[in-house]
Amino acid sequence: MMFIKRITAMVLSIFFMLFISACSPYMDINENEENHEPNEQEATDSPEKTPNSGNNSQPEITAPETELQKKDQSEEVEMLQHAFHQIGYDITINGIYDELTTWAVTDFQLQHEDLMAIGIYDEETKAVLEQYIEDNEMVEPGLGLPFTEETVSTNSGADILANPYDQLALINKEYALPDNYEPEDLVIPNVQFPFTDELPKKQMREVAAIALEEMFQAADEAGLELYAQSGYRSFDRQEAIFAANVSANGEEEANKFSARPGESEHQSGLSMDITSPEVRFKLVVEFGETDEGQWILENAADYGFIIRYPEGKEDITKYQYEPWHLRYVGEKAAKEITENDITLEEYLLYE
Ligand code: DAL
Ligand code: ZN
Repeated sequence: MMFIKRITAMVLSIFFMLFISACSPYMDINENEENHEPNEQEATDSPEKTPNSGNNSQPEITAPETELQKKDQSEEVEMLQHAFHQIGYDITINGIYDELTTWAVTDFQLQHEDLMAIGIYDEETKAVLEQYIEDNEMVEPGLGLPFTEETVSTNSGADILANPYDQLALINKEYALPDNYEPEDLVIPNVQFPFTDELPKKQMREVAAIALEEMFQAADEAGLELYAQSGYRSFDRQEAIFAANVSANGEEEANKFSARPGESEHQSGLSMDITSPEVRFKLVVEFGETDEGQWILENAADYGFIIRYPEGKEDITKYQYEPWHLRYVGEKAAKEITENDITLEEYLLYE
């Protein structure tokens, strides 16, 4: 009895398999998977073979149109994250331009010499990303900026930044630049200096230098006399300056106006101290009262600069008021910071 049941089941299974085969549209093509040549219909219609075909479960992978940056939250950021995921970055797709997204963008930029490595998704980055998507090309993540998960601290207890290239990097007494960090795109902006020697302190990173030139040009057209006094400083140079200030004033006093090595924005190449003939080219609080200082207060944000250590915010920045110390953060962040009367700390950490 059992035997007859088994025979019946086997016969039914064979009939069922023959029926299924007869229904398959591909029954007549080569069945060897390794040598499988897709026919025309498969090559054009199959969603698995064309990920950009726009079916509902898999969104179309495209490079977003608008410029995006850290802190942004939008569908476009999500699109960007999908695109970076597609080319090899194992990043979280959450629609938030977070540290991980900033790292991926910076790493991608560092792998392409023509791109400015600033962590901002700009037009130039979009063009290269589009090419990758079109060519189905992959990157090797971390080749430009190795990914580090664990935080290392300096002797004075500041966390060392994993992404020193970031245009929106927060550099202060809690977050320091690596001692070996030297920006690779330093240039001398075409602006006035109160000295003629070609010193390293004339330099800024390209993105900041371009913006400084535009701002100085506008100030000149407004009849003002702005001068650039001190931009890029290496870690070693800052170490010497800080040591001299400590000798003259004691460590606690010195650290109110002079940063420990690694903790100075000047090492980032994104800062410039500015001055004017009215204060005899000195870096003094009175500069804030001059026409030049007032013009800077009102117009710097239009060129992407902020007064990094504002009056009345000493408890947040941990430095005394410095109307001469400008930091480039880009127009979007600079406007938000200036309009809301906040510091970079508040903008990045609390807002
Ligand atoms: N004067 C600022 C704080 C610096 O030394 O970088
Ligand atoms: Zn400064």
